Amino acid sequence: MKAIEIKKGVYWVGAVDWAVRDFHGYETPGGTTYNNYLIMDDEITLLDTVKHSFVDICIKNIKSVVDPSRIKNIVINHIENDHASGLSAIMELTPEAVIYITEKGKKGLARFNDISKWNIKIVKSGDTLSIGKRTLLFLETPMLHWPDSMMTYIREDKILVSQDAFGQHLASSVRFDDEFVKCESMTQLEDSVVDYYANILMPFGALIKSKIAEIRKLGLEIDVIAPDHGIIWRTTPAKVLQTYLDMAGGKANLSVSIIYDTMWHSTEHMTLPITQGVRDEGVDCKVIKLRATPMSVAIKEFWKSRGALIGTPTLNNIMYPSVAHFLTHLRGLRPKNRMVGAFGSYGWGGGAVKEAYEEFKRMGLEIYEPGMQIVFQPSMEDEEKCYEFGRDFARKVKEYHTKF
Ligand code: FEO
Repeated sequence: MKAIEIKKGVYWVGAVDWAVRDFHGYETPGGTTYNNYLIMDDEITLLDTVKHSFVDICIKNIKSVVDPSRIKNIVINHIENDHASGLSAIMELTPEAVIYITEKGKKGLARFNDISKWNIKIVKSGDTLSIGKRTLLFLETPMLHWPDSMMTYIREDKILVSQDAFGQHLASSVRFDDEFVKCESMTQLEDSVVDYYANILMPFGALIKSKIAEIRKLGLEIDVIAPDHGIIWRTTPAKVLQTYLDMAGGKANLSVSIIYDTMWHSTEHMTLPITQGVRDEGVDCKVIKLRATPMSVAIKEFWKSRGALIGTPTLNNIMYPSVAHFLTHLRGLRPKNRMVGAFGSYGWGGGAVKEAYEEFKRMGLEIYEPGMQIVFQPSMEDEEKCYEFGRDFARKVKEYHTKF
């Protein structure tokens, strides 16, 4: 690998992780990248590092441009391990470099590293750093993705280094949006943006809206958005900003996701007439079996649709474990602006559907009641009820969707 110039004198020096499939519990079927950037100016400056296991690649990339010992400044936009655990190896090569980081970032950095010999300067929103012909402007973005997070704007190049925001978990041999669209597709790129947002940034919609408003108020012209994961936006930076604003504002498709698991195929059997009912109401529908689908994909599909029906058999009077796992995961992501209902089969006591509704209430979602339960296998009569259940749910989702 070698560095890739993204604008004159500004280089991508990161690493592509084709193989990662479990990113701290988040499935990444498409791998990811750890992006970081090198600016060749009077004071050579590195923006972020990479995951420690990829730091040798990063160092080789830097060496393809300059001896790393000449790096004068290192900006750490985010201390999570995928971006900052390579820092100690870089500091060994340039021990006099000055590290620029937020106050919370410095505290966190000290928990992961011995920082006693490092020259660290705290920065906050609005602070600038002149590195020669260029000026860096720092923008704190707490909770996007951690409390320490910030972005760095390279004023003269109009590049926003956005750290986790606007990224995608997507390994690719190309670095830029136009290149990716040429060799893959815009649909795949957009899907990766939604997947990333749903699984990582869903809880922070309000913060995202206010941060984008702040960027707009500052009147920053943006030619390039360079995130720390995935593809760099040089053709359509405004589009990814708008996509984030839309998602943060509750935008969803007028569609229903049916997310379920099953023991002896009874709950699965229920999905067939329910799906037909939803479709006959003119609403798109996707069916996802949890044990056959990565969690991150189920979360993404939930997020894409205005409505979701959760199917769970009763096991020992409670929800089926994979469904409980999904709903617990979903609750942590604090979803909003979605309508939900539940269905499932039971043998004697029941309990799973009731428990699913308790979980919906904890999440504060728009609830469709009552849920639908059947005993053992669905009869012909049950199938008819399932059809009507799906149809009525789709009707209510259509009404609810008009509020957005
Ligand atoms: Fe890509 Fe929050 O780390």
